[in-house]
Amino acid sequence: MDKNRVYIFDTTLRDGEQVPGCQLNTVEKIQVAKQLELLGVDIIEAGFPVSSPGDFKSVVEIGKATSTPVICALTRAVEKDIDVAADALKALPMNRRRIHTGIGTSDSHIKYKFNSTREEIIERAVRAVKHARKYVEDVEFYAEDAGRTDNEYLARVVEAVINAGATVVNIPDTNGYCLPAEYGEKIKYLFDNVPNIQNAIISTHCHNDLGMATANTMSGVLNGARQVEVTINGIGERAGNTALEEVVMIMKCHHNLGLHTNIDSHKIYPTSRMVRTLMNMPVQPNKAIVGRNAFAHSSGIHQDGVLKNKGTYEIMDPQDIGIDKNAIVLTARSGRAALKYRLSVLGIKMEGEELDALYAKFLDLADKKKEIHDDDLLLLASGHNTKQQYIKIKNFQVTSGKDLKAAAVLQIQTAGNMDWDVKAETGNGPVDAAIKALKKFFDKYNMELKEFTLQSINKGSDDTCKVHVQVEVKHKDEQQGMLCYGFASNTDIVLASVEAYIDAVNKYFAIKSKDDTNDADATEKEI
Ligand code: KIV
Ligand code: ZN
Repeated sequence: MDKNRVYIFDTTLRDGEQVPGCQLNTVEKIQVAKQLELLGVDIIEAGFPVSSPGDFKSVVEIGKATSTPVICALTRAVEKDIDVAADALKALPMNRRRIHTGIGTSDSHIKYKFNSTREEIIERAVRAVKHARKYVEDVEFYAEDAGRTDNEYLARVVEAVINAGATVVNIPDTNGYCLPAEYGEKIKYLFDNVPNIQNAIISTHCHNDLGMATANTMSGVLNGARQVEVTINGIGERAGNTALEEVVMIMKCHHNLGLHTNIDSHKIYPTSRMVRTLMNMPVQPNKAIVGRNAFAHSSGIHQDGVLKNKGTYEIMDPQDIGIDKNAIVLTARSGRAALKYRLSVLGIKMEGEELDALYAKFLDLADKKKEIHDDDLLLLASGHNTKQQYIKIKNFQVTSGKDLKAAAVLQIQTAGNMDWDVKAETGNGPVDAAIKALKKFFDKYNMELKEFTLQSINKGSDDTCKVHVQVEVKHKDEQQGMLCYGFASNTDIVLASVEAYIDAVNKYFAIKSKDDTNDADATEKEI
């Protein structure tokens, strides 16, 4: 076994996808999974099969759509979960199946979550691993909240699950609490005190609540862990998980560490872009490695240094992560073939009528915007603005200006209503006026805008703008509101804002109508 090889376990489609508003459908998950395969990840955590029929299906379909990575299914230390996970994996060859089972091991989990004892938790952990081993040869055990678990007890848990047949043991810092030195010492403690530790791979799984996920992961690796659990762009619940691109590039830049992975770093940026687009999750401009400004030198001194010698201020070459500064830019004069080719470079295969429909949208956008960049294409291809619509806009006008009260007139159609209704309102700006006008159509509902983010894709005043919103929607008869996430992109920022708001409200109605017809669909996802 190569002692310096670090295995990349990607959990974008499980822990990453748990973020409210980031849910993907199975087709989108397959697209991401195929890209992860191209990127070179070793293990794809594809879902939590018992949590919903959708998750079950995604695990099955991701397995079918990929051919090399190990496909991992998450479970609690519960026999039924493990049976369902095994069922979701059963069509794969044995060397591509992994069950990831586990239980909380910190005193607070043992006492408050399980009302149990340390001894009983070890018994449950061992039972779960043995049960999973009946189905697969590769069983990973997670000791949830290991970051706050007493090291001596954790060592007993790890020894017991390895004896029971665990091939990988995951030491999650579930709450992102540990300091890097503390997490590294925890891993070292396990290597020093677990007699059978050489029979398993030790894995890191660090959350970013205090901004230390990457540092903790690296500290774990430097102390012997050889699998890292990561997500693209560091997405994940709360402050997210460890970012794949950061850990991979740290190992690449610090080659003196002698550590290596199977990742093709040139695929990092295209993968990041695909995930941010499909998941509606913007990446902060100053995000390490994949943020828009990660390689943008603005100070004169830096620019001068970089021009004289790139290495002066750049520790890595943007091309190493697949940033293609010479990427072809399409225009209104580009033909269908050019569009098809550029889409294929972005990992999207499109033909026939589907391509024709996208080409029409492309020409429409190219009329408004001279240059069409890859991010524009990904947005067009993702079909964000064409999802199921309960509310449709027919006409929309705003007036605004200095010393002028902003006003909006909106004409929309709501589901089940054949008429196009018109409402008008004023506000302290065009977005405020438009949203107030929209709310007037829904007098039985309270709607509150909780978050509003505007981001341009590239540059130029003609650029496409992306808007992300969170709207709390509550019917007057309901006790509790529902937080809905909305997204839209448009060259007109006010229209994009209204469309994003409508997207959120559409989701509320979609969920409500599903609840009415099929209550059983609302499955608990909590671990
Ligand atoms: O953060 C965590 O502890 C997890 C486990 C389920 C692996 O995601
Ligand atoms: Zn996690």
